[in-house]
Amino acid sequence: MTAVERAGWDDHFARGRGFRGVRERELRLLGEAVPPRAGARALDIGCGLGTYAAALAGLGYDTLAVDWSDAAVAATRDRYADLEPRLRVSHLDFEDAAEVRARLPRAGFDLVAMRLVLAFMADKRAVGERVRELLAPGGVWVVTTPLAERLPQGRRYIGVTAEDVAVVTQGWGRGEWYDLEGGGVRCFVLRA
Ligand SMILES: C[S@@+](CC[C@H](N)C(=O)[O-])C[C@H]1O[C@@H](n2cnc3c(N)ncnc32)[C@H](O)[C@@H]1O
Repeated sequence: MTAVERAGWDDHFARGRGFRGVRERELRLLGEAVPPRAGARALDIGCGLGTYAAALAGLGYDTLAVDWSDAAVAATRDRYADLEPRLRVSHLDFEDAAEVRARLPRAGFDLVAMRLVLAFMADKRAVGERVRELLAPGGVWVVTTPLAERLPQGRRYIGVTAEDVAVVTQGWGRGEWYDLEGGGVRCFVLRA
């Protein structure tokens, strides 16, 4: 992704805008797929305004929320200051392999979440491999994403293609998925 696109996220959040809200059904299904575990460690990549990270903290996860947008990090810190230290927020570009390796602990998380983020990452295979390195044995990668094929032509870039799905789901021991909003948005639960 280019610097201009990164500035675009900053501008979006600086204007106080969010994205598709986290609704009750999504939270209920998340809680069923990954039962609450006090003390387990979660990483939310591309946290935006932090709503999903806050939900993970609410499930009992010791949660680190990261985003490469300064405005997103500031907004999440501000909105969820009361959840510290269970929810911590940090600036991080997940596509920068060296930064990820230097800043995040290998096998340091029981759950890694990416909600409405994967489509914007250029090298999805590399992202999947990076996530795998961060997960502890038995860890789970929860990817929530629009499906490109269900989107109008001009909006397909916000979704993942069938090819992307094949790339990122390959090699995971077990996995399941469920649909939100009539199939337009799919949640993949990949178990290492
Ligand atoms: C559509 S928003 C989703 C935000 C949030 N996860 C949600 O569900 O509301 C995509 C987010 O991914 C972040 N993002 C995109 N590329 C990123 C990268 N390489 N590293 C970290 N965050 C990134 C953007 O800054 C933005 O906050």
